[in-house]
Amino acid sequence: MKGIVLAGGNGKRLHPLTIAFSKQLLPVGNKPMIYYPLAVLMAAGIREILIVLRPGDLPLFREILGDGSPWGVALTYAVQPEPRGIADAILIGAEHIASDDCALVLGDNIFHGSGFGRLLQREVTQVKGCTLFSYQVTDPHRYGVAVTDADGNILEIQEKPENPPSHRAVTGLYLYDNDVVDIAKYIRPSARGELEITDVNNAYIACNRARVVELSRGYAWLDTGTPEALLQAGQYVRTLEERQGVQIACLEEIALRMGYIDAEQCHRLGRSMAGSAYGRYVMNIARELGADTVPDRAG
Ligand code: DAU
Repeated sequence: MKGIVLAGGNGKRLHPLTIAFSKQLLPVGNKPMIYYPLAVLMAAGIREILIVLRPGDLPLFREILGDGSPWGVALTYAVQPEPRGIADAILIGAEHIASDDCALVLGDNIFHGSGFGRLLQREVTQVKGCTLFSYQVTDPHRYGVAVTDADGNILEIQEKPENPPSHRAVTGLYLYDNDVVDIAKYIRPSARGELEITDVNNAYIACNRARVVELSRGYAWLDTGTPEALLQAGQYVRTLEERQGVQIACLEEIALRMGYIDAEQCHRLGRSMAGSAYGRYVMNIARELGADTVPDRAG
């Protein structure tokens, strides 16, 4: 399965922060926002990832993430000239997807919870049509909202409805089979002039080829769309990290645990950032998980 992270858009609700700077590179806790969706794909076992971004943002993304090789993944980039909608990323990524299935994740969505990686690893191997993830929220009018029948089968998704039919928001993580490329070609722009991902999902639902995984309240799904939400997400991450002494979305740790890199490589990555608590955490993880290969006091 191929991965796509959508990191374009104009981030209008975060102006002036995002006038000249990419929203997905803003800090959430101690890391750039894009670490979190990247961590989701990497933990799902997806290693070929396309990042879709605004024209001017490419140099910074390349500087921060490079080609992904230090984490044992292949990152490539494609420019979206204008924010033409989330489904536009599928057209932009058609060559990258080629004949594979595809996981699309929004660059501003944060998922967290014990066992989330394992859940995704299961889901990515059994995509028939599309797999969506829903989550209970208090403010469903801000999202795509699932309409279900009495048995919980999905009937439709309404995008940002004034009167939401339920509290189940459709999150920004979508798994698709290869038909998604043809479906995206057939979608027409909405009233706001965008190729809506909800229209793609409704096309799958119409032919009974959509599955919805309800994320329980044991998981966290956080939004970073407004200054308040961005701060709250940062506070959530910092609170958990400080309390538990673990890092959320630590790409080096995920790469090591998934077997993309070995403990020595991981330790080296940590050492290059040894001036930060993050770097020291990475070195510790490498020591813990690679007791035989990484010397106790290396570096
Ligand atoms: O966060 C989940 C929600 O994401 C879903 O519940 C909605 O169904 C879905 O439409 C989407 O709604 P948003 O209003 O949050 O989408 P937004 O326009 O904020 O874009 C989400 C991300 O995608 C953001 O990081 C910017 C990026 N983006 C967006 C557009 C429209 C692009 O890279 N290019 C684009 O053209």
